[in-house]
Parts: sequence; C-alpha cells; structure tokens
Amino acid sequence: METVLTFDPIEAAGYVKRGGIVAFPTETVYGLGANVFDATAVAKIFEAKMRPADNPLIAHVCDTSQIERLVKNITGSASKLIEAFFPGPLTVVLERSGEVPDVATAGLDTIGVRMPRFEIAHRFLEACGVPVVAPSANLSGKPSPTTWQAVFEDLGGRIDCILQGDPTEIGLESTVVDCTSDHPVLLRLGSVSLSDLREVVPDIREVGSDDPATVRSPGLRHRHYSPRAHVVLISDDKGLPTTENSAFIGLHRPSAGVRLAKICSSVGEYASSVFEFFRECDRRGIETIYCELVSGEGIGAALNDRLRRAAED
Ligand code: TXA
Ligand code: MG
Repeated sequence: METVLTFDPIEAAGYVKRGGIVAFPTETVYGLGANVFDATAVAKIFEAKMRPADNPLIAHVCDTSQIERLVKNITGSASKLIEAFFPGPLTVVLERSGEVPDVATAGLDTIGVRMPRFEIAHRFLEACGVPVVAPSANLSGKPSPTTWQAVFEDLGGRIDCILQGDPTEIGLESTVVDCTSDHPVLLRLGSVSLSDLREVVPDIREVGSDDPATVRSPGLRHRHYSPRAHVVLISDDKGLPTTENSAFIGLHRPSAGVRLAKICSSVGEYASSVFEFFRECDRRGIETIYCELVSGEGIGAALNDRLRRAAED
C-alpha cells in the first residue's frame, strides 16, 4: 500500500474516518491510530506493527467529554489525575464500557485513556471526531519513533498515512496509572514522575515485578525499546568502551574513544534523543551502545527504566 505523507491534520483524519490507520505526532512519541469503535481498523494496527495480540492499546481523546463513552465510570483518583495532568503525558486505566471492541484492549475489561497536549495531535483528534486508539508507531520491539521519518522507516508501505509534525518533545512514552481500584498503581514511568503523581494522589503504589498489576499490563512483559545493537549500561567511567564499533550516549564525555558519541546537556535532552540515537546506531551497524545511567529524579527515573529494558536480552 502507498503511505500518504501530509502536514494537514484534517487530511490525515480523513483516513481514520474511512477505516484506515494513521501515524500522528504527540508530545511523547508518534502514535499509530485508528477509530476505537471500528474493530476492523483496530486489527490493522496489530498487523502493521506486528504487535502481539495480548498487548492493549491506549485511547486518545481531544476533550474530557469523549472519555465517558469509553469507560464505565471515572473513579475519584482518575478524576484528580485527569484534572491535574490532562492534556499531557499521562494515561489513566479505567474499566471499559461495552462499546469498546475487545481487539482494542486485548480482551481486558479495562482501557487506558490519554489526552495529548501537542497542538497538532489535538487538531487531528478533533477532526477524527472519535477517540483514537494508538500504540507507539514503531514495529513491535523497536524503539518508539520520535520523528515522522522514523515512523516511515518502520511502517512506510504498511499504513495509510503519516501526519508529519515536529520531532516529539519528551521522547519517552506516557506515564501509565491503573486507576480502577481505590489504590492506584503506577504501571509505567514517564515524564510525569511518581512524586508528581503523589502530590495529587498520595497513595499511589509502584508496581513490583511479581505484582498482580503486571498481569494487568501485558505490555510490561514484552520486550521493548530495543535497538539491534547490544546495550550496555554504565554508571561511571568504569566499564567503558573496549569494543571497536561502539557508541556512547550520556551526560559526560567518555574517556575511551567510540565511533559515535552523543553528549547531552541535560537529562531532558538525553530522554528526548535516546530512541533516535538507538535508531541511528542501527543504521550505522554499531554493535554495542554504552548508555550512562542518570540520577532518578524527574524524568531520570523513566529514562533509566527505558535504558534497563533496552539492555535486557
Ligand atoms: O505516550 C504514549 O503512551 C504513546 C503515545 C502514542 O500516546 N503510546 C504508547 O503506546 O506508548 P504503547 O502501546 O506503545 O504502550 C502502551 C502501554 C503498554 O505497556 C500497554 O500494555 C499499557 O500501556 N496498557 C495499555 N492499555 C492498558 C490497560 N488497559 N491496562 C494496563 N496496561 C495497559
Ligand atoms: Mg510501544
């Protein structure tokens, strides 16, 4: 199939209205969207991404009134978090309504809901006129795309349209919180940190790996965010590049030489460039990527989480 490239959110939304799948920019990463209520269109997302069928999708809305059709009820904790962080990089998981097809939530009785704050995403969602379910717009297992070119690299010829926007601002996926119970559970870290969340809902729990909540978020079990290259984590200058054909990303220039180095001036810049750096390393056939771990405040915790997942084999 030919993938249409456009800068026009209205044109892109037209493909969603006709049952197609469209990649669009958000402040976190690019998403691959379809009309949540169109089961046939939603199934195309799984096929195009080669995504395991047991990994549920997040529904994107352009205003809070759209949430009502998606969920049974908005719990007290969810409404506080929505009030504080929408629009923005936070997803709340709630019990889903009967109108949401099984394929969108991988058969779960819950659905993740998020309202992006990027202006172009807002205009696109508004023109779609329905909530849009979207995972990150990468082939399953690859790093999430932060540019439309990265989307094209993975999905060109496999999807109907790419809405071309700027590179994403944050560069890591949204924070995901399960709000179905009285005691919300943090399922995935993002730029909204645990302490940001606790200022609004003090009793949020962190998910442990043996926690039943992990079962509720199948995505946490899948391999994620990985470049083809081998990722090695370093926390100081020890354990630095010994192999030729290696690369480095971090805050401090390494003492050993590497083929490709990115020295970031802040943790925020590191977070927003790490996935694109992984892709660039793969394009150049780099074998080993050394990644500096950072201090775990603010977005640093989410960045360390993604680096650790990328290093898992
Ligand atoms: O920033 C983001 O969240 C991006 C943009 C496009 O919005 N989306 C994104 O989607 O990262 P995806 O599908 O790549 O990751 C969604 C994560 C997965 O780990 C999935 O398992 C979890 O959220 N998730 C989705 N729905 C869920 C649900 N009902 N219950 C528990 N976890 C859920
Ligand atoms: Mg993803």
